[in-house]
Amino acid sequence: MQIYLVGGAVRDELLGLEIKDRDWVVVGATPDDMLKQGYKQVGADFPVFLHPGSREEYALARTERKQGRGYHGFEVYSAPDVTLEDDLKRRDLTINAMARDEQGLIVDPFNGQQDLEARVLRHVSEAFAEDPLRILRTARFAARFQPQGFRVCNQTMALMRTMVAEGEVDHLVAERVWQEIQRALEEHEPRAFFEVLRDTGALAILIPELVPDQAFTAAMTALHCVHQQDGSIEERFAALISPLPDHQSGPRIQALKAPNDCKNLALLVAAVLPALTRSGEQKAPALSADELYAVLDTADLWRRPERFSLLLNVLACILEPADQEIVHTLQRAANSASGVEPKALMAQGFTGRVLGEAIRQERLRRIQQAITS
Ligand code: CTP
Repeated sequence: MQIYLVGGAVRDELLGLEIKDRDWVVVGATPDDMLKQGYKQVGADFPVFLHPGSREEYALARTERKQGRGYHGFEVYSAPDVTLEDDLKRRDLTINAMARDEQGLIVDPFNGQQDLEARVLRHVSEAFAEDPLRILRTARFAARFQPQGFRVCNQTMALMRTMVAEGEVDHLVAERVWQEIQRALEEHEPRAFFEVLRDTGALAILIPELVPDQAFTAAMTALHCVHQQDGSIEERFAALISPLPDHQSGPRIQALKAPNDCKNLALLVAAVLPALTRSGEQKAPALSADELYAVLDTADLWRRPERFSLLLNVLACILEPADQEIVHTLQRAANSASGVEPKALMAQGFTGRVLGEAIRQERLRRIQQAITS
């Protein structure tokens, strides 16, 4: 049997990047050979094994043929006669389809090294089209490697457009889409991910509200700003979704199956934004103490002070420069109102609903004081 390092590890090694995980391909072996050598089988759909020492993944060389639509339904063929080249051929991009043998020699039947040097993301073969998730992966690699000058080549863009036009993206499972979006939001240049998706038509299916120029530019500007500040995934997602009007953001966030933390912050931004930017007005309104209190209350500042900070970070990235004062005002209001101690009021004899009202009044009084001082 021969063993090769493959995929992202070879790519990253040639790019001089840190290697996160190593994947290996084994040629000329059967599952029995692997088990006898102490490997543990982990893959249910195809023969993948864990190395007894390193715990790295060793997959028997395989070919794959698509059966149905979407991500499911691959017919996998794995046997000792499957060659390394067969295995590399089923992969997505040429830069991901190289191998390194045990002597350190690079095996590169699809000119991945040439594409690495030319900074090109190119599909290996027409088999790329068998897996629509690859559209998102390619967009994600564009987001990761754009700072080094990589771009998706025209032929691959054309192939992805055809895949989208044929309805391939309609059948992707929301969880897989979310995984790619989340990873893209964390890449160096998330904007490139969404540009590739928009150019291929995939964005019109996944987040159609962001396709119009105005919404797209607003989302990308907000995202860039949050990214510059090294914002969390929640902040990034909320920035992305922020151009969607209130009635659209809820259903879209739901459809994307974003996890709760991401979902809640994005919904919160959508909920408070209308009060901060009254439509049609040139300048943001000066909020009254009652209105400020309502924003703090909607944000549940009282129980979720950390999330309130995230909210302010996102607002600072989406409000116009002329409206930034609101962020400072909210911060001042929050600092003052959160100083109210329910215990102190309880000590004064307040209980039940009267206590609740007393807390509210005291918070309002402090907000009023903060905005007039
Ligand atoms: N691969 C593929 N098509 C997919 C998923 C994976 O062709 N839909 C192949 C690629 O050759 C890829 C390898 O499997 O390099 C390993 O996949 P994965 O670990 O997901 O990606 P990496 O390329 O290692 O990238 P990352 O750095 O993001 O982990």
